Amino acid sequence: MRTAATFAAVVAISALFSAAVFTQQALAQQQDESAAHNPVDLGKTTFAQKCSHCHGPNMVNSGTITPDLRRFPDDQPRFVTTVKQGKNGRMPPWGDILSDDEITALWAYVSSRRTQ
Ligand code: HEC
Repeated sequence: MRTAATFAAVVAISALFSAAVFTQQALAQQQDESAAHNPVDLGKTTFAQKCSHCHGPNMVNSGTITPDLRRFPDDQPRFVTTVKQGKNGRMPPWGDILSDDEITALWAYVSSRRTQ
């Protein structure tokens, strides 16, 4: 009788323990996935690769004609048009190079850094 009770307790405890481990693994996996699909992170990477040599690593490039992108207004259509078509022959067009998803991610990143 006593042995059976002990056995039952051991089974219950190990079931609880493996449930906890399982939950932790599931949570860790979920966090990895959300980092990979986070548009702000994707936009940050694209910005570093395609935009920062003109606009500066931190969205501002003092002493150049590029505007401080942290002060760009909350105007997504204007952003998308400029990025796709370029502007005044100085900002190059990216419509053939970047996908809509990459441009949306760039907008998420720029919006996340807005200071005004
Ligand atoms: C070759 C240098 C260069 C690169 C690379 C570049 N830009 Fe620009 N960008 C400029 C210049 C110069 C301007 C200012 C244009 C003007 O107002 O005449 C500008 C302006 C802008 C503006 C403001 C447009 C407006 O409507 O006021 C945005 C937004 C912008 N760039 C985003 C980007 C993004 C996003 C990338 C990367 C995909 C990028 N730029 C890459 C040079 C560059």
